Amino acid sequence: MRIVITGAEGQLGVELVPALTPLGEVIGTTIADLDITDPDCVNRLAALAPDWVVHAAAVTDVDGCEREPTRAMTVNAEGTRRVAEGCRCVGAGLLYLSTDYVFDGRKGISYTESDAPVPLNVYGRSKLEGERATRSLAPRWIIIRTAWLYGTHGRNFVKTILGKVRDGERLRVVDDQVGSPTYARDLADAVALLLSRGLTGLYHVTNSDSCSWYDFAREILRLSGSDPSALGRMTSAELSRSARRPAYAVLENAAWQAAGLPPLRPWPEALAAMLAALRSKPQMDANEHE
Ligand SMILES: NC(=O)c1ccc[n+]([C@@H]2O[C@H](COP(=O)([O-])OP(=O)(O)OC[C@H]3O[C@@H](n4cnc5c(N)ncnc54)[C@H](OP(=O)(O)O)[C@@H]3O)[C@@H](O)[C@H]2O)c1
Repeated sequence: MRIVITGAEGQLGVELVPALTPLGEVIGTTIADLDITDPDCVNRLAALAPDWVVHAAAVTDVDGCEREPTRAMTVNAEGTRRVAEGCRCVGAGLLYLSTDYVFDGRKGISYTESDAPVPLNVYGRSKLEGERATRSLAPRWIIIRTAWLYGTHGRNFVKTILGKVRDGERLRVVDDQVGSPTYARDLADAVALLLSRGLTGLYHVTNSDSCSWYDFAREILRLSGSDPSALGRMTSAELSRSARRPAYAVLENAAWQAAGLPPLRPWPEALAAMLAALRSKPQMDANEHE
């Protein structure tokens, strides 16, 4: 199997390359060699003759998307349409990464794949458009909705908290948004499992169990040997960010379980594994936390 990855230098992309290598030939592409906003990317993608494209490239700064909606739509919606057209040209399957932010969080219990998406913000709307392009254009497709992604590479909440602790900042974190933190390495393994089983369709895939951002931060502090009692709580209203976020966007991994696949490990276990991997990294880049 020949697999092309878009966004191969993102936090998920760097985990996808080694996770997918046992399945065949893996071609990792970046914005430098396959910019999905370039109309020619349809032909360039087709010329790579993939069997599957794993499309992880996106604009993922949720507040940035709110401030620059055109950019969000150009990359996440139109860019995905181009990737799907490239797949259609050569009969390739498209695996698209989507988000819990396609939901408004008002359901009050976890969302299954059969729930209707109602995004609250531009990022969620742009990703939902990407889902629609994937379904309508790709000859075969997998859509994975995931949430609260973090890994050893790139910027994410875990590294932001560690950076602030290192800088001696007082920390307050929102406790009125609940989700399922998901380790990029576990998600990359889940992508490999779906492709190796020949499955298609829509899947919610996250680490098991859920928590608030506050609970998540507490566990980061506890596992990294800092004092969690110094952590304060705040509300989303107090934080007042550009984009609204869903209050309760837990994704039930219903289709995954129905396919007989093993649940991903609970998020605290995955977090401990990520922190261990981070400690064994030769040197953390000073720019790798916000
Ligand atoms: N992060 C989360 O919490 C989260 C949650 C749910 C779903 N997801 C989805 O999961 C996927 C992977 O997320 P991630 O956290 O790994 O994202 P990420 O670290 O931001 O990586 C995205 C990659 O896409 C690249 N990219 C941006 N514009 C591009 C363009 N025009 N052409 C080609 N590449 C472009 C970025 O390059 P530059 O860095 O050079 O811009 C970056 O390498 C995304 O589809 C995202 O929407 C993420």
